Amino acid sequence: MITLRAATLDDVALLRSWDDDPDVVASGGGGYEWETEIPVRSPWSELLIAQWNDEPVGFMQIADPALEESHYWGDCEQHLRSIDIWIGGAEHRGRGIGTAMMRAAIDRCFSSPDVTAIIIDPLVRNERARRFYERLGFEFVEVRRFDNDECAVYRLERSNRP
Ligand SMILES: CC(C)(COP(=O)(O)OP(=O)(O)OC[C@H]1O[C@@H](n2cnc3c(N)ncnc32)[C@H](O)[C@@H]1OP(=O)(O)O)[C@@H](O)C(=O)NCCC(=O)NCCS
Repeated sequence: MITLRAATLDDVALLRSWDDDPDVVASGGGGYEWETEIPVRSPWSELLIAQWNDEPVGFMQIADPALEESHYWGDCEQHLRSIDIWIGGAEHRGRGIGTAMMRAAIDRCFSSPDVTAIIIDPLVRNERARRFYERLGFEFVEVRRFDNDECAVYRLERSNRP
């Protein structure tokens, strides 16, 4: 069973080890300043650890892209959520855990009645992740460049939630 809980400073060593995982690096994940970002309790951004049967296996950020502090998404419509996800160890991938994490995150996002859609931005070349999101009902919107990364923007409307 998947549970999502807030990341704490006790998770930093684990998060750092996941930052070094070759598939996480290849997906453009990582890059968070854990020690400074975790203690900031932002109302617009949640840093979450996913636990599979009590074992921490992955990270998720759920944010309001119009309001979160980094303005990563630029000018953005209101009432959206964005999700960032990775599973830290290869042994936990390809077993349905990511699907369970996304379903839990999707439920969490749409539990706010004003949220209309969820957006994500895998790298264009991350074909497995793109298939993974498409299977969950996300629809391709556009290719967009974020810093030096070519990303495929996808969107899940509330009416298409799995
Ligand atoms: C993408 C990811 C969260 C999917 O979670 P998962 O538990 O592996 O996925 P599930 O077992 O629920 O579903 C299997 C599908 O996930 C995707 N997947 C599986 N392993 C993957 C991997 N190493 N990298 C990317 N996607 C993978 C594929 O679509 C796979 O289906 P396929 O075997 O037909 O290609 C996870 O694999 C991961 O963290 N990968 C590395 C980092 C990453 O790519 N993050 C996404 C950034 S946008």
